[in-house]
Amino acid sequence: MTSESQVAAAIDTRSIADLYQRVRARTLEIVAPLEIEDYVVQTAEFMSPPRWHIGHTSWFFETVLQKYQFGYKTYSQDFLFYFNSYYEGFGARIERPKRGTRSRPTVRETLRYRKHVDEEMSQFIGSVSERDDAETILAIVRLGLEHEMQHQELLVYDIKHLLCDQFDAPISPAPHSQENVNGMAEVEGGLFELGYAGTSAGKDAGDPPALPPQHGCRAGDPGSMRALQRAFHFAFDNEKPQHTVFLQDFLIDRAPVRNSEYLEFMKAGGYQDFRWWHSAGWEKVNQEQWQAPLYWEFHDREWMIRDFAGLHPIEDKRNEPVSHVSFLEASAYAKWAGKRLPTEAEWEKAASFSPPLGSKQDFPWGDDEPGQTKANLFENQLWTIAPVGAFSEGCSSYGCHQMIGDVWEWTTSDYSPYPGFKSEFDEYNDKWFVGQKVLRGGSFATPRAHIRSTYRNFFYPHERWMIGGFRCAKDA
Ligand SMILES: [Fe+2]
Repeated sequence: MTSESQVAAAIDTRSIADLYQRVRARTLEIVAPLEIEDYVVQTAEFMSPPRWHIGHTSWFFETVLQKYQFGYKTYSQDFLFYFNSYYEGFGARIERPKRGTRSRPTVRETLRYRKHVDEEMSQFIGSVSERDDAETILAIVRLGLEHEMQHQELLVYDIKHLLCDQFDAPISPAPHSQENVNGMAEVEGGLFELGYAGTSAGKDAGDPPALPPQHGCRAGDPGSMRALQRAFHFAFDNEKPQHTVFLQDFLIDRAPVRNSEYLEFMKAGGYQDFRWWHSAGWEKVNQEQWQAPLYWEFHDREWMIRDFAGLHPIEDKRNEPVSHVSFLEASAYAKWAGKRLPTEAEWEKAASFSPPLGSKQDFPWGDDEPGQTKANLFENQLWTIAPVGAFSEGCSSYGCHQMIGDVWEWTTSDYSPYPGFKSEFDEYNDKWFVGQKVLRGGSFATPRAHIRSTYRNFFYPHERWMIGGFRCAKDA
């Protein structure tokens, strides 16, 4: 007799297999415009050559096959060494800054490896529902797909660092601003439920089985990919458990800080005045000779911004949120402006709480999945940040714009475990719980299927090659 859990596993298997195909194909779509020489170059210690991402995301699934597929034969010991990132549990690996120091494995060999892993994985996923440990396996495959989506975003950062406007990105026209968005929203304090409400690894306890087996997904429809993702109610362990925090009344910017506003800070001597900076920030300013965000260039007495589309006068980018600033720069700006950065709890309340409903929603606009007109995420294919006011439909209950998409937003919160945290995956999130800051909301490079308002991203305070911006807050 077929048990209920076997039926659920069979449905999950079909959905996971579908999601697997789509996510894996997307990675190859991102790198498609690269020339063969581009794949192996490492331009900085913090970035990785595209070949490495292609291999590493496959390595992740090969570790699943090694552990769970009876009789699986390792593809190559050399590949295990080259494509492991930081996992101590999987043995020796090449040091991160050295990923661009070798020409082997070749790009062709790496793609062959990827294909091999995909073939093995599709057979493997097809056989999982028969097994007693089906749920554990589906959870780790699901994690592998989230991991791959994280690497898709990293690929965008790294390709930008490698090629910027030399990369022939398939850019769609950016939407125009529909309204002026200024000022700060008032948010009432009190008790707030911070974090994701689910309980177990990737699935709410007691939820009904995910998608019905006959669900119709059109090929290439990103909306359905999101539907697949939501069918599993996935959230990382670091977003859990939901817990009660107390907030004072506060104000938060209705829009992220724009380039024009950041330029005012620069013109006022912001990078030359120690008073605005944390000690670590002032040290970096002097050490690295910071004078502007990354990708800003000074030509003919004018600041210009380079992105995937080319080099632009600041005039053309005035109304776009500033990006490629570190936490240290964001904090200095906020102090200069007489404000501060929000805590992650403040950010999450402003982004997700609906006062009329008296509860949280998945996104600022409600529970509907992100669509073309709600937020600037990877599927919009802008390859850049949209002007403030371009996504009025994505506005939060408090009137805050563009909290999802465009730029990750720095918060003042340290990346640390929530009270009651339980690690669900070895060496994935918990080993990073020191010295980093939380960013919220996703960027134009984040896949729609990968973001929600409880998502906690984290980077070191000085990092700025990712698409990081900010909005300010203030005590009421
Ligand atoms: Fe990774």
